Amino acid sequence: MTARHAHPATTVHHAKKSARHEFERWAHSYDRSILQHLLFRPTFEIMLEEVTRWRSADAELARATFDVLDIGCGTGTWAALLYGSRLPVRVVGLDYSGEMCRKSLRKARHAGAHDLRFINGDSEHLPFRSGSFDLVTCSHSFHHYPHQGVVVREMRRVLRPGGRVMVADGFRDNIVGWFVFDVCVTRVEGNVYHVPWAEMRRLFEEAGFADIVQRKFNVWAPALLTMGAAPRAE
Ligand SMILES: C[S@@+](CC[C@H](N)C(=O)[O-])C[C@H]1O[C@@H](n2cnc3c(N)ncnc32)[C@H](O)[C@@H]1O
Repeated sequence: MTARHAHPATTVHHAKKSARHEFERWAHSYDRSILQHLLFRPTFEIMLEEVTRWRSADAELARATFDVLDIGCGTGTWAALLYGSRLPVRVVGLDYSGEMCRKSLRKARHAGAHDLRFINGDSEHLPFRSGSFDLVTCSHSFHHYPHQGVVVREMRRVLRPGGRVMVADGFRDNIVGWFVFDVCVTRVEGNVYHVPWAEMRRLFEEAGFADIVQRKFNVWAPALLTMGAAPRAE
């Protein structure tokens, strides 16, 4: 049981409401935030490197079009980046904030990416059939989820056998990360929880992911990328 699981229902409701409120207000200026340079862009670069490595591992994978779900997609920058890459992808973004989804859609249309889709939804109850995606990504959104174990299980459920998951969030296991995320971000955002490295691994194991790999990057805004694979044989 993590501290997040222990929260009573009213606190959980409050946490979700305040996250939605924060991002409804932030949606319009979000792309101009300094965090884009310090944290979000470097994360997208690392994720793109990992996705490209995975897909180019064999010729069949490299040719096949694959379905991606980005949870907590914000203004859709990562979805657009993937879509604009050389990779053959179909991308769906999902966010709890309706304003973030609208902003993502406007950006995508403006860039001519007419088949990018954005859905207003909750990471805990993904509105998709089991086995709908080849890749699930989630960048700097996970610390907002009151039931993080439930979300990791939902990620596993919507993945096809052999599919991959990538969750990136603030790394709080060194002194810099502890100060940035546990002290500063928690003070600003309120009810959030940046999962320690080992606990994140355990959540992935409990959800049934295999081949778990964790990668720490960035110095002054350190981040952790945790990756896993949905086993092929059920
Ligand atoms: C810091 S932003 C990150 C956005 C984007 N992934 C990025 O890296 O720029 C966190 C996003 O998570 C979304 N979010 C928070 N709680 C959520 C939930 N329960 N389900 C889905 N999205 C959620 C917020 O609305 C917000 O857009």
